[in-house]
Amino acid sequence: MLKRIFIFSIIIGASIAFISCEHQPKIKIGAGNNNTPVDSTNNGTNCSPDTVYFVNEILPMITSNCAQAGCHDNITQAEGIVLNSYSNIMRTVRAGNANNSKLYKEIINGNMPPAGSMTQEQMDKIKKWINQGAKNNFCNSGCDSTLFTYSGQITKIINTNCIACHQSGTVLLNSYASVKALVDNGRFLGAIKHQSGFQPMPSANTFLSDCDMKKITKWIAAGAQNN
Ligand code: HEC
Repeated sequence: MLKRIFIFSIIIGASIAFISCEHQPKIKIGAGNNNTPVDSTNNGTNCSPDTVYFVNEILPMITSNCAQAGCHDNITQAEGIVLNSYSNIMRTVRAGNANNSKLYKEIINGNMPPAGSMTQEQMDKIKKWINQGAKNNFCNSGCDSTLFTYSGQITKIINTNCIACHQSGTVLLNSYASVKALVDNGRFLGAIKHQSGFQPMPSANTFLSDCDMKKITKWIAAGAQNN
């Protein structure tokens, strides 16, 4: 009897895990997207300096500061909050009203993220995005994939999308030497391309944008130099 209950709970558990992963479409984040439009009111128009865009700026910022394992990722769901997609993030947001949004209040009160790692500029972006209606919008930044030096572009991509989780711990991305080692053993590309056998980065349901991906692959193909 016990054995039967055990097997039954494994089947239920596996189905729940399957369902919750299955319905998260993977999206591409960061600058220079060629995504299919996520919002018909703003389907990838050129970036306006007065608008804050969810896919380009807010999602990478929140995923890297808040959706770490052990925090607000799918598995941990600290306090029942998952911050890894637009619909999940919107559960903590009142569109048009940053001061009444849990997401913004927790951040400016210094409660979240725990390390207090968000800059004033990042907090201001979140506020502006919420007050502009908290849309699931993105823009075409005119990202130029022919530019791909380590100091000019690659570090910027890493700082936006990866560094919050990789400035301490076992996998480091905070110096050229540590990045180069991960490039040389294939783990860097394996992770960002979501190849099997590697942990998918920057998260299981997000890819880097096409343009950022091109810059990285070109930089690696040209010898991943410290240029
Ligand atoms: C939300 C946190 C988070 C973000 C954002 C993140 N990572 Fe990770 N990454 C992890 C964790 C956790 C591991 C597992 C290893 C560990 O515990 O340090 C990992 C592992 C890796 C590995 C080793 C993969 C393997 O299977 O060998 C690479 C390479 C990596 N990350 C690169 C990146 C890159 C590049 C980015 C940005 C594009 C990124 N990560 C963004 C949390 C993150």
